[in-house]
Amino acid sequence: MSSMVVVNFKPTILKQATTFDYKHKLETTLYTMKYTIAVIPGDGIGPEVTSQAKKALDAVAEVYDHIFLYKEAQMGACAIDSSGNPLPDATINICKSSDAILFGAIGELKYDNDPTLKVRPEQGLLRLRKELGLFCNVRPVKAYDKLIKNSPLKKEIVIGTDIAIYRELTGGIYFGTKETTKDGMSAFDGCSYTVQEISRVTHLAFKGAQNRKKKVTLVDKANVLETSRLWRKTVINIAKEYKDVALDFLFVDNAAMQIIQNPKQFDVVLTENLFGDIISDEASVICGSIGLLASSSIGEKNALFEPIHGSFPQAKGKDIANPLASILSAAMLLEHLELHDEADAIQRAVEKSLDLGITTQDLKGKNQYAASTAKVGDFIADYILNQEDSAMNFKNIHMGQSTII
Ligand code: IPM
Ligand code: MN
Repeated sequence: MSSMVVVNFKPTILKQATTFDYKHKLETTLYTMKYTIAVIPGDGIGPEVTSQAKKALDAVAEVYDHIFLYKEAQMGACAIDSSGNPLPDATINICKSSDAILFGAIGELKYDNDPTLKVRPEQGLLRLRKELGLFCNVRPVKAYDKLIKNSPLKKEIVIGTDIAIYRELTGGIYFGTKETTKDGMSAFDGCSYTVQEISRVTHLAFKGAQNRKKKVTLVDKANVLETSRLWRKTVINIAKEYKDVALDFLFVDNAAMQIIQNPKQFDVVLTENLFGDIISDEASVICGSIGLLASSSIGEKNALFEPIHGSFPQAKGKDIANPLASILSAAMLLEHLELHDEADAIQRAVEKSLDLGITTQDLKGKNQYAASTAKVGDFIADYILNQEDSAMNFKNIHMGQSTII
């Protein structure tokens, strides 16, 4: 455990507490820190899974003596329903004035199949990314031993997979000029990138690689696209500043194949917005469940944390969605605030829940007992608070006999 919390965001020091009888025996002084966290539960299963992440954060706050002040905000279909706007100004303001943002999911079925709608939930998220300048999206894909049996791939292919996808998030075809001709017979989406846009995400990818296996793979379509050729030139130049990191290249169609054939070859995958969207969904199934994958979207001043899975409207309100991706997003949020021990505590609790099989139905066989969303959240919080002394009887929980399940 760190002796003092180092923060890069302007938290308030509330009090200085000695650690004399503190459970985790800090060697020096602990400062109580206060952080404001914007919480955007969003649509579908977003609110259910985000509540579990908050339970985990509350447990961390208790054990490590921090204060997390949540400010709830609306975005997506729920915001359209209540105000006609998928991203109300109030949400932007809350996000801008917070130390970090925890986001659930966005999207609803009624919008998915109707291309004529002018106002869509996704516009909220896209505008928020642009508005806050969240240019770097990091999506880690790591194989958990316990879950390898859930992978659609062979065990020997999956074991040891550990990839970090760095996706550029505020440029490219997502944000280019869009047009449909008056007669409705032709449409246009422009894709452009500047050296500056490519450079800032590239630096973060190389720095990320320096703390990992020191390899960056640039995924592009430089045999066809002008923007991809600019990516190559720019990345090759920047690579010269990171002599300890190896750089290689793959065309996106080949990368799509290689990620399935041999995911272990990848360390950091760096790519533009649309390719990153597709490749990261593909990579997310390798490890057994998309329900476990967290992500961060980082800008100069703000950072947002969210599960990779979408809003899964079919499961809304049923208490069956896997909350682990949201809980692990909260761990990434803590890492970002440089609360490393606190983030580890969440990681350990998640690993414990997997070890004990206290998981939702997506990770279970057909006739196996599955825990509900809320109960997985209860277990994670309880484990953070009580560790092995947990008031719960793990063995019974595992067998589905405990009263808390
Ligand atoms: C994602 C999502 C978004 C995207 C949608 C909801 C706009 O698929 O975060 O990957 O395409 O970026
Ligand atoms: Mn996506």
